[in-house]
Amino acid sequence: MAALEMDDEGLKALVEVFYARVRADAALGPIFNDAIADWPEHLDKLAAFWSSVMLTSGRYKGQPVPAHMKHKDRITPALFDRWLALWAQTTDELMTPGAAAALQDRAARIAHSLQLAMFFRLDD
Ligand code: HEM
Repeated sequence: MAALEMDDEGLKALVEVFYARVRADAALGPIFNDAIADWPEHLDKLAAFWSSVMLTSGRYKGQPVPAHMKHKDRITPALFDRWLALWAQTTDELMTPGAAAALQDRAARIAHSLQLAMFFRLDD
C-alpha cells in the first residue's frame, strides 16, 4: 500500500486510523470513549491540529493543556508512553519513513510539554 501524503487529506486518514486504535486500546480506550461524545468532530479537530503542527496551516485553534488537565485524575505518564508507542506504530505503518520520524518527534515533544504542565506544576 502506498504511504499517505503529509497533507491535509493524509493527516486526516492517519488520525482516523490512530484514534480507531486508541479507542480499541485497553488502557487508553476508556478515557477517550468516556470523554468524547462527537467522534467526527474530534477527528476533524485532531486533523486540524496535526495540519497546524506539520504544515503550519493555522487550522487548529484550541488549548490542549486545559483539555488534558480536565482528565488529570485518569491520565498518567505511563499512558503517555502507551500513546506514543501506538503513534509510532501507526505512523511507521502508514507514512514514509521521513514523515513518520517527523510526526514521532513532534508528538514526543508535545507529550513532554503536556506532561510538564500536567504533572510537574507546583502551584495546583
Ligand atoms: C484532546 C486524552 C495525549 C493532542 C484529548 C481529549 C482526551 C485526550 C480525553 C479530549 C479532551 C476533552 O475535550 O474532554 C489524551 C490521553 C493522552 C493524550 C489519555 C495520553 C496519555 C495527547 C498527545 C497529543 C494530544 C501526545 C499531541 C501530540 C490532543 C489535542 C486535543 C486532545 C490537540 C484536542 C484539544 C482541544 O479540545 O482543542 N486528549 N491525550 N493528546 N488531545 Fe489528547
